[in-house]
Amino acid sequence: MGQLEGGFDIANPIIQIRGLRKLYGPHVALDGVDLDIGTGGVGILGPNGSGKSTLFKCILGLIRITEGGGEVLGKDIVTMGPDIRSKIGYMAEYDSLDPGLTAVDQVRYAGELLGMRPDQATQRAHEVLQYVGLQDQRYRKIETFSTGMRQATKLACAIVHDPQILFCDEPTNGLDASARQFMLDTLRRTISDGGGTVIMTSHVMEDIQGVCDRVVMLSGGKVVVEGRIDELARQITREIEISVWGGATKMEQWLLQHGHKVRRMGRIMRIEHQGDQTIRAILEGASETGAQVRVLREYEPDLEDIFLLIMRKLGKSAKSSSDLKGVPGK
Ligand SMILES: Nc1ncnc2c1ncn2[C@@H]1O[C@H](COP(=O)(O)OP(=O)(O)OP(=O)(O)O)[C@@H](O)[C@H]1O
Ligand SMILES: [Mg+2]
Repeated sequence: MGQLEGGFDIANPIIQIRGLRKLYGPHVALDGVDLDIGTGGVGILGPNGSGKSTLFKCILGLIRITEGGGEVLGKDIVTMGPDIRSKIGYMAEYDSLDPGLTAVDQVRYAGELLGMRPDQATQRAHEVLQYVGLQDQRYRKIETFSTGMRQATKLACAIVHDPQILFCDEPTNGLDASARQFMLDTLRRTISDGGGTVIMTSHVMEDIQGVCDRVVMLSGGKVVVEGRIDELARQITREIEISVWGGATKMEQWLLQHGHKVRRMGRIMRIEHQGDQTIRAILEGASETGAQVRVLREYEPDLEDIFLLIMRKLGKSAKSSSDLKGVPGK
């Protein structure tokens, strides 16, 4: 696998962060973050404690920044927090809903807190609850809601004032498959229909890949990789993927003995692509070992592969993105 290179290639950033540091007492949570973010979908990845939620709170002006700063929609994040919050939506990591309220009252209340007139907030509450799929449950108390319905209510609260940028911290956390799909579809729709910007964190690569075209990876409070997902994927060395039935182990050993780099997942093997000779070697290996190669194709790397490469470069021993929850950020 090759080198990964990110960089500032955004023509019209709507968020610009420079030299951002955040300390909680002596503990460094963000350690000099420089970041440009344009419109569209942006995924923030990183192990537990790497600073994702802290970055959101700093950008939203919710916590005091220790050093550095930046602008959101041309407004200073250090001094213009309330102004920024009126133009952006924030779906926090933790549940801040009032279980005693109905969904429509909760969302209207969120709108009023953001400075909307009561009649405006009421009308929008009904609109956004329909948008997030809760039109039939809007008069029910939140205490009767499932996790998926609570997450959808949080999203409705975050978009009640029609923000230009939506920050979602772990929007799919705790959701079952269908609620998760609905949440991801709604976020995608927010980007494609409204021309909006969604900045989301998740521990699940597939969620980020389904919504975002760019990714920022944090580790130990620093940005370690930033860029378009397709461009990062292009920087990964190509592999040929084969599916082997009968004799997979012999085939793997033959390839390794002949100097090929092999990643094996059961019947599936991915072999580093070094030109036509790789395909010739696979066919020769199959005929010599008697292995049956049923499928042979060029493998398209995904965000999971990018993640594994980054973790390896950082000297961390993650085997898959599910290890994100177990890898300490420092
Ligand atoms: N209020 C706080 N007081 C002290 N330390 C904090 C506080 N909030 C966060 N931290 C620490 O700062 C670091 C970054 O935390 P943060 O919550 O931003 O990480 P994260 O990437 O969002 O993690 P997770 O994936 O678990 O949500 C962690 O080491 C965390 O323990
Ligand atoms: Mg967090």
